[in-house]
Amino acid sequence: MMRAVHDGVGELLMDEAAIQAEVARLGAQISADYAGKSLHVIGVLKGAAVFLADLMRAVTIPATLDFISIVPYGQVTASGVVRIRKDLDEPLEGKDVLVVEGVCASGLSLSYLLRNFQTRKPASLKVCAFVVKQRERPADVTVHYVGREIPDVFVVGYGLDAQEQYRNLPYLARLA
Ligand code: IMP
Ligand code: MG
Repeated sequence: MMRAVHDGVGELLMDEAAIQAEVARLGAQISADYAGKSLHVIGVLKGAAVFLADLMRAVTIPATLDFISIVPYGQVTASGVVRIRKDLDEPLEGKDVLVVEGVCASGLSLSYLLRNFQTRKPASLKVCAFVVKQRERPADVTVHYVGREIPDVFVVGYGLDAQEQYRNLPYLARLA
């Protein structure tokens, strides 16, 4: 049954069943693509936290986990420079790294992170995002694993926030 939407929340874009179906599909695809290897997963805080918790459990190959916390460029500057609030705990050298992000909008945050991570000499570096907005991106970022492409609207839930609210909603919806 469809859950009643929360105050301040608009159109429902993905309910819990739709989200879990995409998570299962992504987990199976990633596990197949990295078969025989072990994966080093980097969660981009805070937006990826809820998605990552589910995605990790849908990945069946050996995996390690690290987190990075960034101050979104939008809150600081539109130049694409991202401030790292909490850096990774572990080195990336020689590892098959999968960066997991909640939402890719302009792609500037991911672009910055990928350039930064590349200097740490991973064996491979790919990106998984729960949602990718259908819009032009000034930054040339490839998202290898996409949960869902969505219109260029502001969305909340399943880890994504509006001023730190709504991260706990189990569905994805437009902000009213
Ligand atoms: P970027 O524009 O791809 O660099 O995304 C920057 C950051 O803005 C994302 O990591 C999110 O933290 C935030 N963001 C962008 N679009 C949305 C949205 O629709 N809902 C919630 N956060 C968003
Ligand atoms: Mg935010």
